[in-house]
Amino acid sequence: MGQEKRQGLAKTSGSRGAAPRSGTAILVLHGPNLNLLGTREPEIYGRTTLRQLDQRLARLAADDGSKLASFQSNHEGALIDRVHLAREEGVRFLLVNPGGLTHSSVSLRDALVGVAIPFIEVHLSNVHAREPFRRVSYFSDVAVGCIVGLGIKGYELALSYALARLQE
Ligand code: DQA
Repeated sequence: MGQEKRQGLAKTSGSRGAAPRSGTAILVLHGPNLNLLGTREPEIYGRTTLRQLDQRLARLAADDGSKLASFQSNHEGALIDRVHLAREEGVRFLLVNPGGLTHSSVSLRDALVGVAIPFIEVHLSNVHAREPFRRVSYFSDVAVGCIVGLGIKGYELALSYALARLQE
C-alpha cells in the first residue's frame, strides 16, 4: 500500500499529539438559525454575533497553538457532510451546538457517532428552563459533556477543555 493511501486510511482522531491532516484540530459546528446570533431573541441568546464568537474562539485556540475552524448551516445534510469531512481532515475534537436539531435529529447524531470524534454539546440558553420539548436532546448521551445556559462563555469553557484534551 502506498504512503498516500495509508495516510488516507490512517485514523488520527484520538492519536496522541498527532497533527491533523487539514491543520484544523478543533471544529465548531453551529446548527440552524445560529447565523442570526446578535439579533435573534437577544434576551435569550445575547448580542454577540456568530462572527464575533467564531473569531474569539479561533483566537483563543491560536493563542494555545491550535487551529480552530467554524461551520454554520441551516441545513441538516450540510452539517452531516461537514462532520464526515472532519474525520477525513483528522479533526480531533468538536464543539457542537445543533440548534433546533438538538431536539429532532437522529441523522446528525448518527453522523457524530459514526465519525467517533469526541464532542461537547453547547447551548447558549438553559434548555432545561425553557419549553419542555427543549429538554430532550438527541446528543447529550453521546457527548463527552454538555454546557448549557452560560451564553458564549459556555463555548469558551468547552474550548478550554478541548485544548487540554489535545495535550493528552
Ligand atoms: C439553542 C437552544 C435550542 O433549543 C434552539 O433551538 C437554538 C439554540 C441554544 O444555543 O440555546 O437554536 O441550541
